Amino acid sequence: MKKRILTGITTTGTPHIGNYLGAIKPSLDLAKQNKESFFFLADYHALIKSQDSESIRLSVKEVALAWLSSGLDVNKSFFYRQSDIKEITELSWILTCITSKGLMNRAHAYKAATANNVDDEDVGVNMGLFSYPILMASDILIFNSTHVPVGHDQLQHLEMTRDIAIRFNHSYKKTFNIPEAIIQEQGSLIPGLDGRKMSKSYKNIIPLISDEKTLKKSISKIVTNSLEPGIPKDHQNCNIFKLYSNFSSLEELENLKNEYADGISWGDAKIKLFNLMNSRLSPIREKSEELKRKKDFINDLLYAGAEKVRPLAFEMLGRVRDIVGISKIK
Ligand code: TRP
Repeated sequence: MKKRILTGITTTGTPHIGNYLGAIKPSLDLAKQNKESFFFLADYHALIKSQDSESIRLSVKEVALAWLSSGLDVNKSFFYRQSDIKEITELSWILTCITSKGLMNRAHAYKAATANNVDDEDVGVNMGLFSYPILMASDILIFNSTHVPVGHDQLQHLEMTRDIAIRFNHSYKKTFNIPEAIIQEQGSLIPGLDGRKMSKSYKNIIPLISDEKTLKKSISKIVTNSLEPGIPKDHQNCNIFKLYSNFSSLEELENLKNEYADGISWGDAKIKLFNLMNSRLSPIREKSEELKRKKDFINDLLYAGAEKVRPLAFEMLGRVRDIVGISKIK
């Protein structure tokens, strides 16, 4: 069977360096070597986390720009918006009906949301959050994906997708391919400004697309220790160094290591990081500026993307409906 990779990004918040290094860039690299690739904006997943319509609309635009400016080639991959493919949500209902509640009870995302609840264990949990893994399974299974690049935090969701597919195939007949995860370790290693994993929920991000001034300002906020200039510094547990290593060549990294041993000041280390990141990110920034100037470009492109993938989803959903008995009376 032909390899088909598929991955989505939830459209809440502004895409950041962690999304880029952990999801966008490795997925685009895979797309270059791989056969078929499906990339999408998970906007129905965003509704689970946010009721702020304006911020969702903005995020859809920003996430689309992030993909496109980072080099996604719409002629070589499928690029679309989840909500444009209504078959996905319809399949999600069918899958909901064969998924045991117990499986969903075990989902980390749901358990994390309820971990601090004392009296009522379900405070703050909507049904979208509870059945989140089923919508994700639907995203993946409807296109018979074979490989799904995801961060470590999504591995359990992938296992649930497999469970759901196996169960469906077993209860009815072999319908879905059982997809495999491609784990992108890197994402969890990208430190945010405070040293914890870079994440919108920690508010410690460096945006992927920002002007030079904002980038400089973000970098100036990276937390360091208080060692004075001239005192040798440990590069190993340093957030500046870790970020630098994600953009540098080996030679550049070796040079910085030596400068740490020689006691570089934190100010200078941040300038080095800024210069490097700025040079690597400026093509993305420029591309994004160019795309933003083309009015309606993203809408048109997403529309065209949906047109391309919808027949595939339609065909699969038709088969599934027929298999479960939602079809013409015979
Ligand atoms: N749940 C993923 C995340 O938050 C986004 C996502 C939705 C996804 N559907 C998907 C990822 C299908 C891979 C495949 O990061």
